[in-house]
Amino acid sequence: MTDIVIDEIVVPDTLEPRSDAGADADAGHDADAHRADRADHAARVAAYVEAIGLENAVQAEVLGFGDLDFGPAEQLPQWHDRFTPRRLFVVRSGGRIVGQATYETLADPTVTTCWLWVAVAPEHRRRGLGTALLDHVEAVARAAGRTDAISFVASGQGSRPAPGDRLEASTGHGWVPRASSEVRFALSRGYALGQVERISRLPLPVDEEALAAIRSEALAAAGDEYRVHTWSGPTPPRWRSDVAAMATALSTDAPMGDVPEPEDVWTVDRLVEAEQRRAASGRASLTAAAEHVPTGRLVACSDLAVPDDASRPAMQQMTLVRREHRGHRLGWLVKVANLDRLIAEKPGRPSVLTFNAEENRPMLAVNEAVGFVPIGVEGVWHRLL
Ligand SMILES: CC(C)(COP(=O)(O)OP(=O)(O)OC[C@H]1O[C@@H](n2cnc3c(N)ncnc32)[C@H](O)[C@@H]1OP(=O)(O)O)[C@@H](O)C(=O)NCCC(=O)NCCS
Repeated sequence: MTDIVIDEIVVPDTLEPRSDAGADADAGHDADAHRADRADHAARVAAYVEAIGLENAVQAEVLGFGDLDFGPAEQLPQWHDRFTPRRLFVVRSGGRIVGQATYETLADPTVTTCWLWVAVAPEHRRRGLGTALLDHVEAVARAAGRTDAISFVASGQGSRPAPGDRLEASTGHGWVPRASSEVRFALSRGYALGQVERISRLPLPVDEEALAAIRSEALAAAGDEYRVHTWSGPTPPRWRSDVAAMATALSTDAPMGDVPEPEDVWTVDRLVEAEQRRAASGRASLTAAAEHVPTGRLVACSDLAVPDDASRPAMQQMTLVRREHRGHRLGWLVKVANLDRLIAEKPGRPSVLTFNAEENRPMLAVNEAVGFVPIGVEGVWHRLL
């Protein structure tokens, strides 16, 4: 395909139409400016909604299910997160958006990492659109001084490729299907597979017996030194700095394979803003945390994002145990406490979804014991730009 035109979408701050107030009362130039502004806003909303629709459709096609859909209204607050600036680019054909690419980074100007993603509608593939879009966001990244590109690329589990058709991660844990379009594309673009994550689903209701066994084992291992706290919605003020510190630790403590993820520093202000954004995206937070009683500090934490729409799955967010407190089954303790809370407070969700590094055996072990089953894989690809 020649003459591929890539446009940037300026993501609107709201999906609501601009108010008519004042437009009719204004005369002449002001009224024209109002009308132009309304039309401009409406066009931006339509383009943004279409681009996110394409992202979700492409992801559902790859995975074979739409559970990971994250709709335009749900995503909107994230597009305005001042800590993780992002940009959205599209390619159109016949007036429709048929390809899109996202660029995301951290606001810290010293960070060299960015996260890129490209999607092309199935009927427009193998014509160079993916290449043009990726070239474009890589150039955007370079211009911003970002030289480490990371891409999270999901693959379904529909086919079980023979061992020879599996591309193993450099960690030695996990593989992605070598013949799939997304894997061939990433390889052709010079990206290396630094890690594989497993996408798992826990069908609800959960097996109470399995949960009870894990709960009692975790309680026995944790003993009296640790106390569980749970809450819904924003983190209570007394725990904010501990939770922010755990979010920072997560950025470097979680297994990263051969992917150089940067430290991502969380302050209390950032935590408060992120919690407001999650609420604004139509998802409730449920959190379980473990306090180390002798020091009065939280040292383990697990949270779920639960869509208000009960027909949608809950998403596991961070689960972290501070390094000095590992080996006491605290990960099990907080996970099970949070599942208990989900069942009691937000019943009726069909499932819980989670992502775990294939080399993260302790976390996979607890998930498997609770009843999570693998439903897909996600390659974590890296390239020096
Ligand atoms: C991956 C994806 C973006 C590629 O889009 P595209 O427009 O088809 O990409 P291109 O036409 O620029 O292909 C570039 C190269 O990738 C490789 N490639 C892509 N799809 C392939 C396939 N099905 N079989 C073999 N090679 C393939 C080829 O080397 C191709 O070059 P060639 O056509 O000259 O042989 C598209 O398949 C897609 O949207 N997949 C799902 C979303 C996704 O996984 N995105 C993550 C990528 S960051």
